[in-house]
Amino acid sequence: MPRTSTRTALPTSCEPVALPGGEREFDGELRARIADRSARVGVIGLGAVGLPLAEAFLEAGFRVEGYDSDAQRVAELTRGLNPLEHLAPGMVQRMRACGRFEPSADESRLAELDVALVCVPTPLDSRGAPDLGCVRAAARMLAQRLPAGALIVLESTTWPGTTREVLGEILRAHGRAPGEDLLLAYSPEREDPGREGARTATIPKLVGGTCERSRRAAAELYRAAVREVHEVSSAEIAEAAKLFENVFRAVNIALVNELKLVLERAGIDVWETLAAAGTKPFGFQRFAPGPGTGGQCIPVDPRYYAAFAQALGMRARLVEEADALNRAMPAHVVERTRAALGSRGTSLEGARVLVLGVAYKKDVDITSESPALEILRLFAAGGAEVAYSDPHVEELAPSGLRSRELDARALESSDAVVLVTDHSRFDYALVARHARLVVDTRRAFAERGLAHANVVGA
Ligand SMILES: NC(=O)c1ccc[n+]([C@@H]2O[C@H](COP(=O)([O-])OP(=O)(O)OC[C@H]3O[C@@H](n4cnc5c(N)ncnc54)[C@H](O)[C@@H]3O)[C@@H](O)[C@H]2O)c1
Repeated sequence: MPRTSTRTALPTSCEPVALPGGEREFDGELRARIADRSARVGVIGLGAVGLPLAEAFLEAGFRVEGYDSDAQRVAELTRGLNPLEHLAPGMVQRMRACGRFEPSADESRLAELDVALVCVPTPLDSRGAPDLGCVRAAARMLAQRLPAGALIVLESTTWPGTTREVLGEILRAHGRAPGEDLLLAYSPEREDPGREGARTATIPKLVGGTCERSRRAAAELYRAAVREVHEVSSAEIAEAAKLFENVFRAVNIALVNELKLVLERAGIDVWETLAAAGTKPFGFQRFAPGPGTGGQCIPVDPRYYAAFAQALGMRARLVEEADALNRAMPAHVVERTRAALGSRGTSLEGARVLVLGVAYKKDVDITSESPALEILRLFAAGGAEVAYSDPHVEELAPSGLRSRELDARALESSDAVVLVTDHSRFDYALVARHARLVVDTRRAFAERGLAHANVVGA
């Protein structure tokens, strides 16, 4: 959590901090090493963000040292295995085959780095509050290991001030002065797992430093690997921009979710309404209603933003409300299913409910913060017998559930089939043909011309 007291330490205008002696450039040695690609780039946290970033630097000709605290992840990567399904087939194998990518869980290797790009998780804790534990742990490790003159860039999404205050404080506590002994910058990751055509190297990169020298070093580094680099005047601007990008999505998703609830009550089709509004060629951006938000960003970042506002003595009322609305969508899906079952003379208690899709979005295998988890929990709490089918998620670890084969038998033996994630690999015609009742949270059936009488929206 940001502390109100530390806010006063921030330059109020977020002006770049000039270095003692009016230093404006970063050191010639690191610059030369970036230019001739001999700079050793470390990627800390080899997940959905870190791996594509490592790939971009390999493609640019650098040697990349990958560090992850999860030894199993490192072992998989060392063998050339993709740990995440949405990564391009053979991606890690190619990264290994080039001979310049070394994944490791050995901290001592960090002593050889010129640059450390920090891509560790910034999740919520068990109370739903921001948890910077991984960022702090990474910062402590880097403060102890990095050689003098190295550049640290935080890529994880977080509240404005984290780089300067949280990382900066940890560095200073280890006797490493940011901007002097180590350079320190922020550059947010804008990865969107599963999105076709968007690659780390082609998504414009924001770069802000905790001092001008740090910003210049970071910008020069990213320019070597990313097509477009947009420099901003401080790390705080880059942090705020990233947080706002995701909060913007969360608020707009909440808005269409609310619209859906209101129009549903009025008997007006929300999808046709949105398609109609979408014909306006300016001033409108279409978002889709759904069963709730999931993943590392949209359900998480509004909480970081709200905590940031709270630390300043303010309430982010709109964002908090949007977050609450999105979090209420799984309950809405369960209530719609209960009502649809009731109108067919079946009670939810004891009903067999088959959930289709537990990943947080289409065609990926990531289940973190997926609304399906809450939907399954609520169905079970309502006395239903739950099962799921997801071609991308074999096992749902905490629940002990395993994915069921999606065949006529599974469909016919279920009282309700609830589509939560609209994976391309589902056989929608088979579902529409064999399910007794389909609750469709994505309008996936109507879109495929399968608006049968047994399909209801939610
Ligand atoms: N996934 C996305 O779509 C996305 C997009 C943009 C930004 N982000 C942000 O990027 C950051 C990373 O997200 P992700 O999706 O890549 O997470 P991830 O869970 O896929 O990967 C994070 C990796 O970091 C490792 N790790 C954790 N603590 C560590 C430590 N102290 N030292 C070294 N490794 C450590 C984990 O073992 C894991 O392999 C988060 O702040 C997230 O909000 C994510």
